[in-house]
Amino acid sequence: MADPSDSGQFVHWFRHSSPYINAHRGRCFVIAFGGEAVAADNFHHLIHDLSLLNSLGVKLVLVHGARPQIDARLRSAGISSRHVQGLRITDDASLPEVKAAVGTVRMDIEALLSMGLANSPMAGARIRVAGGNLVTARPLGVVEGVDFCHTGEVRRIDSAAIRRQLDDGAIVLLSPIGYSPTGEIFNLRMEELAAATAVQLRADKLIYLGETAALRDRDGRLIPHLTPAEAETRGDPQQVFLTCALQACRQGVRRVHLLDRQRDDALLLELFSRNGSGTLISADSYDTVRQASIEDVGGILELIEPLERQGILVRRSRERLEMEIDHFTVMERDGMIVACAALYPFPSESLGELACLAVHPDYRREGRGDRLLQIIQQQAIQLRLQRLFVLTSRTAHWFRERGFEPGELDALPVQKKNLYNYQRRSKVFMKTLPNEHPQPA
Ligand SMILES: CC(C)(COP(=O)(O)OP(=O)(O)OC[C@H]1O[C@@H](n2cnc3c(N)ncnc32)[C@H](O)[C@@H]1OP(=O)(O)O)[C@@H](O)C(=O)NCCC(=O)NCCS
Repeated sequence: MADPSDSGQFVHWFRHSSPYINAHRGRCFVIAFGGEAVAADNFHHLIHDLSLLNSLGVKLVLVHGARPQIDARLRSAGISSRHVQGLRITDDASLPEVKAAVGTVRMDIEALLSMGLANSPMAGARIRVAGGNLVTARPLGVVEGVDFCHTGEVRRIDSAAIRRQLDDGAIVLLSPIGYSPTGEIFNLRMEELAAATAVQLRADKLIYLGETAALRDRDGRLIPHLTPAEAETRGDPQQVFLTCALQACRQGVRRVHLLDRQRDDALLLELFSRNGSGTLISADSYDTVRQASIEDVGGILELIEPLERQGILVRRSRERLEMEIDHFTVMERDGMIVACAALYPFPSESLGELACLAVHPDYRREGRGDRLLQIIQQQAIQLRLQRLFVLTSRTAHWFRERGFEPGELDALPVQKKNLYNYQRRSKVFMKTLPNEHPQPA
């Protein structure tokens, strides 16, 4: 039985992670990790986290590397490996060792994913791993006089086949090997394979679990978020995963995460906490604002329920929210609803009610409340309403500072007056809207 102080913490943590669970369900993540991660003692923790993601409905494509394993095999076979521009030349002598090393790593991963994860919280979970000839490759050829032999580059990913497997609930595992239509085998860079897969699958996220992948500033502090342009100037261009990450961003992958695989908690912290654990490269540093749809009801409830419990917002049932969803505008960040507001028009009285304005506590004081208010005001003006009112018990000053004046109950629309919840002792605040639609002369 858990210690009660732990259980409080657990419930707190679980409640806070639920919006992320919602946001990730049904999304497609491509997760890449090197042979170093597979060889590490804590690899079974990563496997456990991956099966957890799978059971939460995340569609997973795993891309593994095998560099240290290939090096070890070549060494014991007495073959010296040549690298040019950081890339291995896979000659005729090396290819059998590459095949053996990659095949072994792949089988080790498949075995771990098949274990049912005994003695772990995921015991009994049945995971299917899919693979096959999903990657078509071509030879890198002769570059500046150097023949790269069986080292290749990605030509095509069979994204339709991968998607079918994902839709069927399988985890797709890609090895850094591709086949050519002429039947040859090519050794691929796992970073490039992961980027190409994410691009062609239009994945929601590409995640690199590298040795020291997360980017840091000069003082060694983690940089949590960068735009692709910033990452280009601040990252080390020698890092292959960074070049591939930026390429994926340019080709339409909206979020690329760079995580340190040595951190046991890196993946779950990055995906289920606001602060994350690594560096997110994403062009969307800004929130998207849009009209809410029925799919947003869960996200809005997550946001407003704590405020309803504190008596700051009036209670709304799920059914009511579903019925009134068209009145809502939401602000979304990284797939999560971080703010919302609603406009209820009363056209016959030329009045509009601004209701249910809420910003997630972690995202306050960055102007979101203001921005939503502007948007609602604009919507009201479009509807030719003359005044906007709000009923509030605890946020009076916020509205007063934004041009709302105390109003009388009598000024409310009839329908609203009848419903007015006296017990909440809300105060009425009114704002006259600028007339941007002059009547035709
Ligand atoms: C009110 C609320 C929407 C503001 O969101 P926000 O994104 O932080 O808003 P902004 O960044 O535009 O404004 C932040 C400013 O408002 C101030 N503020 C926040 N809550 C306030 C309140 N209850 N009374 C007065 N001022 C308040 C902050 O102190 C900050 O000002 P400062 O930086 O000068 O100190 C947010 O605090 C919230 O969700 N509150 C709970 C729900 C609520 O009260 N809704 C309104 C009832 S309909």
